[in-house]
Amino acid sequence: MIEPDQLMLGIETSCDDTCAAIVSGDGRVLSNIIASQMDHDRFGGVVPEVASRRHLEMLDGVVAIALSDAGVTLDEVSVVAATQGPGLIGALLVGFSYAKALAAAAELPLVPVNHLRAHVAANFLQPDPIEPPFLCLIASGGHTFLERVSDHDTHQLIGETTDDAAGEAFDKGARLLGLGYPGGAALDALAREGDDRAFDFPRTFVGELDFSFSGIKTSLLYKLREMPTDEFERVKADLAASYQRAVVDMLVGRVEHALSRTGLERVAIGGGVAANSLLRERVAELGVHVKVPPRELCTDNAAMIAAAAIGIAPTPYPKYAALDAFPSGTPALAAGER
Ligand code: KG4
Ligand code: ZN
Repeated sequence: MIEPDQLMLGIETSCDDTCAAIVSGDGRVLSNIIASQMDHDRFGGVVPEVASRRHLEMLDGVVAIALSDAGVTLDEVSVVAATQGPGLIGALLVGFSYAKALAAAAELPLVPVNHLRAHVAANFLQPDPIEPPFLCLIASGGHTFLERVSDHDTHQLIGETTDDAAGEAFDKGARLLGLGYPGGAALDALAREGDDRAFDFPRTFVGELDFSFSGIKTSLLYKLREMPTDEFERVKADLAASYQRAVVDMLVGRVEHALSRTGLERVAIGGGVAANSLLRERVAELGVHVKVPPRELCTDNAAMIAAAAIGIAPTPYPKYAALDAFPSGTPALAAGER
């Protein structure tokens, strides 16, 4: 187990951001480097092959900057933590193989990290880490779920999306509004200039605590089909604001319901959508203790990967040589664990 004063090197390459960070065993972030790949915007989505090649080109440099920003050398690192899955398999393979090779060359232990656990673990980083038990909402580009976190490594899935992820709803909405990819942050910015009551969008609640986001983008698509171009330009910000309010209503509505169902009194949020201004405002108004990590720890980053390694027994050198990256499916989210 990592000691509080030891250092970890975190590596994250599950999608299109190349990330490395140095974090101490007591959750202090000494450096957190995120190199975003800009090539994907013009394709309207992440091109897996392009993402893998970019990781390969950038990883060495990003790790070097993470070390120098933290003012340390690799000799001072005690554990390497790297994303094993889920994500794009080619992208994961580049980062995970790199981490295994780096750890093996230095004869260091390695912690294989589940990306989704890491979004939760971002809440354990300094300053103001949240202590379990708490309710956690994770909303990213690929996943949206609610879980009860009873310990650093004990959690129970209590709700999840039945179709699109919340980030996907933001990205698809943003694309329909001509805001590029990934458009969540651009939609958030445009929404600030609009009237969030100007348009009606459906709020869908399925099951006891599950989510559904596929209806809302269809609703936007139909509204746009009937709209002349000059009107579209005039009401674009109103559309963004109304659309964003509907997505956030669905997320916050589920959090409120889960709080009353579980009796939990604290909430943490994570995943890229937790960078959304309105969501951050609305969870702060829930009347319970709320932990919202800084934006750079909500979207994909390597500090959260290292955070997920705290309290976990690392795989000793050289046993991790046999470990493989996995693209999807995680024991933590198996239906049987509900
Ligand atoms: O966690 P993340 O960085 O990557 C995944 O693991 O998916 O999440 C990315 C998602 C994208 O869908 C992006 O549009 C969304 O988070 N996102 C936002 C904002 N910033 C990022 N969505 C709404 N508002 C934002 N400010
Ligand atoms: Zn993520």
